[in-house]
Amino acid sequence: MLFILLSIAGIMLIGYFIYWYISPIQRWKRRLDLKQHEIHFYALYAKVDGFSLSQEARQKSDAFEYTYGEIYFMSFIALLSLVKPGPCTRFYDLGSGTGKAVLSAAMVFKLEHCCGIERFFTLHEAAVQQKRLFEKHPNYINKIDIIQFIHDDFLKIDFSDATLVFINATAFMGSLWDNLSQKTASLAPGAIVITTSKPLISPCFAVQKTTYVEMSWGVVIAYIQQRLPVAKIKNTDMFSV
Ligand SMILES: C[S@@+](CC[C@H](N)C(=O)[O-])C[C@H]1O[C@@H](n2cnc3c(N)ncnc32)[C@H](O)[C@@H]1O
Repeated sequence: MLFILLSIAGIMLIGYFIYWYISPIQRWKRRLDLKQHEIHFYALYAKVDGFSLSQEARQKSDAFEYTYGEIYFMSFIALLSLVKPGPCTRFYDLGSGTGKAVLSAAMVFKLEHCCGIERFFTLHEAAVQQKRLFEKHPNYINKIDIIQFIHDDFLKIDFSDATLVFINATAFMGSLWDNLSQKTASLAPGAIVITTSKPLISPCFAVQKTTYVEMSWGVVIAYIQQRLPVAKIKNTDMFSV
């Protein structure tokens, strides 16, 4: 009897070891210290309601492309991990809302620059406020200089220095999507653009990978696209490359 109990305990111990130390997902979480970052992230945003802020802001001017939605921390970090951001990465979130994508990327990865552009002032202000709180946290004090939030229309801002761009694009369509797709042609060859729900409409990019990512409104497809060198672009007549 004792032998059987010891055997079961041994098997459970080995299973536990495999789960925590060998499973690739657990290894990834430990390598990036994601449990700690996730706790800090949700504590940081506990009192911020981007949906209400957006609804309030849209009373004056509304359009389908202003529909609000947000990333979920773990799913978004899993998505970014696929492109391995590093110390030379200049990250932009186009339509940054309350800054969740920017601050979660800055928390987890060592980046050169991390910038969000948002057209609604109340959402932008919330992002700036969260940045102030974030920078006070002892774990993130060395990230102070890399984070920037810009209050403007992303079509008016030069983001050609970006090496990694995130566009939560499910609600972006029509001329906005055409113009934004065209604007991404200003990125240098090799730059990565991640879009949700649809790829860019541009011959300057090639889809490298698709995956699924969970957002506040459900699971969506994400397209990881890379800016091609000029020599590899077909049909350039409609785009300035
Ligand atoms: C789906 S939300 C994404 C928020 C954030 N990126 C995230 O994933 O958590 C899209 C955001 O884009 C903003 N937006 C829409 N058109 C914009 C424009 N032309 N310039 C800047 N921001 C814009 C909206 O106000 C909204 O906050």
